[in-house]
Amino acid sequence: MELNEASLNDLLGKVVIEMGAAANGPLITIGDKLGLYKCLSESSPLTSSELASKTNTAERYVREWLAAQAASGYIQYDPTNEKFHMTPEQTAVFGDPKSPVFMTGAFYAISSLYHDELKMEKAFKSGEGISWGDHSTCLFCGTEKFFSPSYESNLINNWLPTLDGVVEKLQQGAKVADIGCGHAASTIIMAKAFPKSTFIGYDFHNKSIEQANERAKTANITNVSFHVATAKNFPGNDYDLICFFDCLHDMGDPVGACNHAMKALKPDGTCMIVEPFAKDLLEENLNPVGRAFYAFSTMLCTPCSINQEVGLALGAQAGEKRLKEVINKGGFTRFKRATETPFNLILEARP
Ligand SMILES: C[S@@+](CC[C@H](N)C(=O)[O-])C[C@H]1O[C@@H](n2cnc3c(N)ncnc32)[C@H](O)[C@@H]1O
Repeated sequence: MELNEASLNDLLGKVVIEMGAAANGPLITIGDKLGLYKCLSESSPLTSSELASKTNTAERYVREWLAAQAASGYIQYDPTNEKFHMTPEQTAVFGDPKSPVFMTGAFYAISSLYHDELKMEKAFKSGEGISWGDHSTCLFCGTEKFFSPSYESNLINNWLPTLDGVVEKLQQGAKVADIGCGHAASTIIMAKAFPKSTFIGYDFHNKSIEQANERAKTANITNVSFHVATAKNFPGNDYDLICFFDCLHDMGDPVGACNHAMKALKPDGTCMIVEPFAKDLLEENLNPVGRAFYAFSTMLCTPCSINQEVGLALGAQAGEKRLKEVINKGGFTRFKRATETPFNLILEARP
């Protein structure tokens, strides 16, 4: 078959960009761990020696790192004085963990995909699942770091107020379960905002529950507790609010999980389901956000679900229509899309 030279060059051009991105991933986590971005973003322009000395790192490596960062467009280089700096936008994305668009967390999670490539290759042949807890540990802190900025900027101000009557209940003192809470980013944000309410985080991954307890201790909050439990066996039948943050699609039996949640709610309770943003059809998700989520889904969410009973494997791009079917099948009668962001769908289900 004859090659179309223009199409070939377009594809090769794209792949060279991808090679650079894939190779630079570990340099992002290194820059974050060693405080290179933080230091650069908080200082006036620096040479490689100045950055190395301020961060107690080796100049030769730092010089090469800076060159890779500048070539990536993540930092700026001024050849007149051989100094580097970061713009406010570059700082928001790489240098400031409190920024709503801080993205380095994603690269910790991505590094777990590379660590676990061999396990995944085997799973493709056997069809077996991989438990969430069997991934490289950088996945768990990566998930926390990646999702936290969005929860910090959206959960209290934009998401909870779109649920019918929930904020009023939380202000007065409500009982809340956060299912599949992971390291508890969402639980702790809510517990801080609503001190009269009680928050209980459940996750079937015991190491995540250990970390969640540590986070609560560090934050010095007392209206939270964390326990190892699955979405189908967590205790209680008097919750005002039950939340699933980015985890319903990871579950083997999301219908069973919804059914258990419905029974655990008070009759006028609310279930909030936060899921990755997706449209209903594959062809509508063939875009940069869908691309990232389909990759995470192949290597994390789908094997996590397949590893559990039922193994429905919704995938991270299920879309609202499919999620509504699952939620209704679980027994909820009322359903609405409460709100959305470019990365998330926020769904409300009620008995
Ligand atoms: C993508 S992480 C999200 C963690 C957390 N909700 C957050 O937003 O940072 C998915 C979580 O669901 C948990 N999980 C998956 N299946 C579960 C199940 N059947 N019961 C309880 N937790 C489950 C995993 O252990 C993991 O912590």
